[in-house]
Amino acid sequence: MTWRLAAPGVWCLTVGSPHPFTPLTWVGAAPKLEALGRMPSADPPFSWADIALAEGGGGRRILILPLDGREKLYGTGLQFMRLNQRGCTRYLRVNSDPKQDTGETHAPVPFYVSDRGYGVLIDTSRAITMYLGSSFPLADTRVEDARDRNRDPGWRATLSASRVEIPLPDEGTEIYVFGGPELGDAVRRYNLFCGGGTLPPKWGLGFWHRVPTQFGAEEALAEALEFRRRDYPCDVIGLEPGWHSRSYPATGEWDPERFAEPERFVRELRDHGFRVNLWEHPYVSPESKLYPELLPYAGSHTVWGGLAPDYAMPEAREAYAKQHRERHVAIGVSGYKLDECDGSELTNNAWMFPGHAAFPSGLDGEQMRQMYGLLFQKMTNDLYRADNRRTYGLVRASNAGASSLPYVLYSDLYDHRQFIRALCNASFCGLLWTPEVRKARSAEDWVRRMQTVVFSPLAMLNAWGDGTKPWSFPEAEPIVRRYLKLRMRLLPYLYSAFARYRDEGVPPFRAMPFVVSPEEAAVAEARLGRETETLNTTDAAYGKRLAPAWDDQYMVGESLLVAPMTEGEAERNVLLPAGVWWGLDTGERYEGGRVIRVRPGLETIPVFVRDGAILPLAEVLPHAPGPGERTPLTLVHFGSSPGEGWLYDDDGETLAHESGQGGWWKAVVTREADGSLKAALNGTDKASLPASYSVIQWRLAQTKLDDE
Ligand code: GAL
Repeated sequence: MTWRLAAPGVWCLTVGSPHPFTPLTWVGAAPKLEALGRMPSADPPFSWADIALAEGGGGRRILILPLDGREKLYGTGLQFMRLNQRGCTRYLRVNSDPKQDTGETHAPVPFYVSDRGYGVLIDTSRAITMYLGSSFPLADTRVEDARDRNRDPGWRATLSASRVEIPLPDEGTEIYVFGGPELGDAVRRYNLFCGGGTLPPKWGLGFWHRVPTQFGAEEALAEALEFRRRDYPCDVIGLEPGWHSRSYPATGEWDPERFAEPERFVRELRDHGFRVNLWEHPYVSPESKLYPELLPYAGSHTVWGGLAPDYAMPEAREAYAKQHRERHVAIGVSGYKLDECDGSELTNNAWMFPGHAAFPSGLDGEQMRQMYGLLFQKMTNDLYRADNRRTYGLVRASNAGASSLPYVLYSDLYDHRQFIRALCNASFCGLLWTPEVRKARSAEDWVRRMQTVVFSPLAMLNAWGDGTKPWSFPEAEPIVRRYLKLRMRLLPYLYSAFARYRDEGVPPFRAMPFVVSPEEAAVAEARLGRETETLNTTDAAYGKRLAPAWDDQYMVGESLLVAPMTEGEAERNVLLPAGVWWGLDTGERYEGGRVIRVRPGLETIPVFVRDGAILPLAEVLPHAPGPGERTPLTLVHFGSSPGEGWLYDDDGETLAHESGQGGWWKAVVTREADGSLKAALNGTDKASLPASYSVIQWRLAQTKLDDE
């Protein structure tokens, strides 16, 4: 086995003759070699000789990697059910309805990272299975594994094997190993190797509202203006299937009755500061003008009576691009919600083509299903790139190599706890996820969901089926409005976090294993008080205390830790990393490196700020400012320690940032000899002051965020 160095700290092994069409080859993003080169070099914590290729049943090639006894594994895509995948068999197939913990999901990614600081990727368009410490070769049988369940309290239903086994695609594949030394470094390398993270346009980070599916132009406009009248910020209005002249299958053409003058509709919304996002799905209606053009490039099977086009064919892509360019992009539509590119044959619905479907490019149905989400993300992104504009949109399927694509995943599932866990899990694999709000059982449920979504990559109310508005629960109006406004204040902070994703591969939203090592978590848990200890999960059958997974809290950028509440919860535990933290809303001071218990009222989502942090905050506007607009910026320094914070700025809309038109500023607070605090904002390159800001004011030594 010869591993070649693919980039600094990234090694590749080619096995057999890999299929030319894979997630990485299709996305085709150039690795960010310079940024990779700046990272500390780090070999994986095992020797190359410990990786083996064996022959399994049926002559299949099996990749075998060693595992340490206590090692934890994260990733494998948008998983809803658990954070640590160690001990699990992950069947990484696209599934639109991932209700079971099998590994199937909207965005299965054959990439995992270890808390020992390395990552492994299989770059394939096939659905593969990863046995992440869940397969036990006879030759490795350990005496202690075979126990007597009748007598031995140490018997366990699930054993943990000391190896990963991955049956490889028949034709072969490329395998990548990403070095650390920390888990977060391995993820950074993966993201940088895939082209770095995406930088959304500024408006993408504002609030989004999707209107009911049958709404026409007048109703959509009236609803948008209601946001302005009621003083709720909003940047994007999303149209659902009703804008198509026919849907399920869809035409991609405006319905002449509901949207008689689409260009005027988009312009009017734009005049009020709104962008328009369009729902679409892949299946082309026989009524669409695209139908005859795409027929020669369609798969062997239809979906809802529509074509399933083969977009691996350049001719099909050109036909799709032409329609989208002329009908949508050219009139100012800002992007798409790419729905239902994630069907699966094993759920009880018949709306996907089968795995044995044939496509003109030679791909089969299984490959097309695995790749459909990525195909649409890249095609639509390219449309906007050709127009020197950024897009930001939604997609329901993805795969490996997606970090540079401006898309956020969502689901028809609706469990709030699972939504928070998915947000955490997305961070391991170059994915973004929105815990969108649709409806609620109670005002409490509504508020808790709104609070979570405000601290996510895409803050959205998806009212397509329920017709809800942010003000649907009048008793909760002030709280919801306040959080939507907080989102607007956070824009410069969030934008800078995304710029770090682009430049350094650091995910803007990160699960706890990025910031707390297993040892630190164990120390923090050991400090739990009596009262809290009894509240932790126990293994009911055997009375053993299980370690909490900390899959319900996460970091936003460098300095904020968010610990959402869900309906029915009056209090919760929070694992605080080492250092001093401040309650963003309460001003309470906490010693980190321990587990704390908080009892926030409904009006508060627990958010903690690192001592010494400097948050760049905007003033609250009804929508994100456009290029050239200058607004005030406040740099808020927290607590008593000196500290630093980063601010990134550019025009917020075009691709000029890719050729260096944008810059970084470092905000620094130091302590003078007389004990006072001194603040400075220093440009790191040519620019003197960030162009988007008219005045820059400081607030030093704050302990909480005051309302504006
Ligand atoms: C679903 C999607 C929903 C909504 C609906 C419209 O597939 O998840 O968010 O867009 O289609 O028919």
